[in-house]
Amino acid sequence: MQIDDLAPEDLAARERCAELLVIAFRDLAPAAWPTIEAARETVDECLRIGLVRVARLDGAVAGWIGGHHAYMRVWELHPMVVDPARQRSGIGRALVADLEALVAARGAMTLVLGSDDEVGLTSLAGVDLYPDPLAHLARLENRGGHPLSFYRKCGFVITGVTPDANGFGQPDIHMSKRVGHRIDQAQPTHRTNRHTVEELMKFLYANRAPALPPEALAEVFDRLIWCLEDNGATLLSVREDWLRSDDRARVEIALTMNETYPFHSEADMHRALHAIGARWPDLRGRCEELITRRRDGR
Ligand SMILES: CC(C)(COP(=O)(O)OP(=O)(O)OC[C@H]1O[C@@H](n2cnc3c(N)ncnc32)[C@H](O)[C@@H]1OP(=O)(O)O)[C@@H](O)C(=O)NCCC(=O)NCCS
Repeated sequence: MQIDDLAPEDLAARERCAELLVIAFRDLAPAAWPTIEAARETVDECLRIGLVRVARLDGAVAGWIGGHHAYMRVWELHPMVVDPARQRSGIGRALVADLEALVAARGAMTLVLGSDDEVGLTSLAGVDLYPDPLAHLARLENRGGHPLSFYRKCGFVITGVTPDANGFGQPDIHMSKRVGHRIDQAQPTHRTNRHTVEELMKFLYANRAPALPPEALAEVFDRLIWCLEDNGATLLSVREDWLRSDDRARVEIALTMNETYPFHSEADMHRALHAIGARWPDLRGRCEELITRRRDGR
């Protein structure tokens, strides 16, 4: 089996991808791709907004998967289909693994997907999930061929449900899988050059517009955390230096950052924030807020 990008100019392969959506979802989710036109639109859209990977056996399209960036570190898998004549031979699993590696390399931490139950394949169908959808989810059973069992075998877990997504009693089941690596913030990777990151932060600070509020640069730094290949580890370690510095304006910016708590250890954070509060009493409120939120796990 070979897995490659779907080439936009390969019209025959595009058409086969569309046909597979119509054929494979006809009984499982009749509202999804009732016509070849609707399926072609989905293939076009997937090519436009993200990745389309095609599995071929002896040159023929045997299945395909789409994936696109949703928000922050989250990518969505949509859609996923294997030729019914080729199912249960490992193609679906291989397509998922291929997509996981590609999105992880693009910075994804989490791959999500929604899997409808339009035709009563699970215990969530045909019932009123309100007022407590989570109670129904806790008792979820796959009663006959719903793909959630396939996704579970691929390492996904159930994270939620949207009641009535396709009409009363026809929910959408949400699943997620971690595809990125946790990086210890206390150990910046050697690949991101600390000096460069520090110079960048200093440059922005030194050239900030007059009267720019601390929130503005704090927001830029918060956003940068997610843009850097080391998941912001280097930037966050510079932030710790700023919190320990004598420069009140830098302290205030570092203190206003919201994306993560400063310092790997809670005890280190307490020490640094108590010192700031003692030195600049008007910053004490913010320091106490951070300490309380972290202690309460918020
Ligand atoms: C769901 C689908 C993509 C799976 O692809 P596949 O190539 O058949 O799956 P694989 O052969 O890689 O299966 C991997 C594992 O999942 C299991 N599996 C596959 N489909 C399953 C299903 N519907 N129910 C339970 N287990 C399933 C396989 O038995 C295999 O288990 P094993 O490793 O213990 O042997 C494919 O059946 C399909 O296209 N279905 C129609 C469209 C669809 O449902 N798409 C997903 C919508 S969200």
